[in-house]
Amino acid sequence: MHDQATVLRKMASHQNVINNKGSLRVISVTSGKGGVGKTNLTVNLALALIEFGYRVIILDGDLGLANVDIACGITPRFTLEHLLNGEKTIEEILVSGPKGLGILPGGSGVQDLANIERNHLENVIRNLGRLEGLADILIIDTGAGLGHIVTNFLKASDDVILLTTPEPTALTDAYGVLKALQTDEEEEKPLQVNVVVNRVLNEEDARATYERLENAVHRFLQGSVNFLGWVYEDPSVGKAIMNQEPLAIAFPTSAAYRCIQWIASSVAGIYLDPPQKAAGIRGFLTRLLRH
Ligand SMILES: Nc1ncnc2c1ncn2[C@@H]1O[C@H](COP(=O)(O)OP(=O)(O)OP(=O)(O)O)[C@@H](O)[C@H]1O
Ligand SMILES: [Mg+2]
Repeated sequence: MHDQATVLRKMASHQNVINNKGSLRVISVTSGKGGVGKTNLTVNLALALIEFGYRVIILDGDLGLANVDIACGITPRFTLEHLLNGEKTIEEILVSGPKGLGILPGGSGVQDLANIERNHLENVIRNLGRLEGLADILIIDTGAGLGHIVTNFLKASDDVILLTTPEPTALTDAYGVLKALQTDEEEEKPLQVNVVVNRVLNEEDARATYERLENAVHRFLQGSVNFLGWVYEDPSVGKAIMNQEPLAIAFPTSAAYRCIQWIASSVAGIYLDPPQKAAGIRGFLTRLLRH
């Protein structure tokens, strides 16, 4: 017996649908609490990775006001919704940002991506499959408040970056994300979650925050997390956002951007020595549709 999900999964993983070399790495950036700095990290991490020579595309899943295109000062005409309903191709919705950064405006299409209808799936896979030739890394800004859809995106990604601030509510909500990732059904692979602590005053602040999270994950979830790094509290971040210019361009020597460059170097390291599960956009879609 094949249910709808099984059929979709088979279609997504079908070798002939896209000519996938499995080279595109999908990284999701998420947080429990909103407003902790996801969009700022996503945009500037992407720009730092571009400095390292990677071709990067952001899938903007942020439905909030301060989303990726605003942060980059661009106004896209079309979004993933147009791709999903077959009106536009991937090339037509992809916009070019600073330093050649590709941006896929998500709109509410991001939610629909996790529930593609069967008759649209092949077209979507064919289009998304062309990203393999256009980029090395796809970073998804998951936005805030998409609930189980975000969880599905995280589970489908090759890498997850979980952002928090030292603020107790942000930390509690970050723990909530980790818990949600654990309790859902039987997963064949434990998801490696990389934690970044944003808006810290100093290194001790960052490490103490991370340790609080790690202790809770050990004690109550019997799980583990990975400490990816931290970003200092820096007024340059707010100034750059106000000017609709990414930090990497407006204040490339700022303390916050230096931290993001350092995080990018770790991400590049992870990328250079990838775990087995990296399976390109096809692998991502196959996993996304599994849930
Ligand atoms: N390192 C930092 N130093 C100072 N301010 C920061 C820092 N990081 C983020 N901010 C501030 O936090 C605000 C929210 O950042 P951002 O929009 O990136 O968060 P978000 O997690 O994407 O929010 P949402 O959940 O609404 O999508 C920004 O306006 C910025 O001024
Ligand atoms: Mg955001």
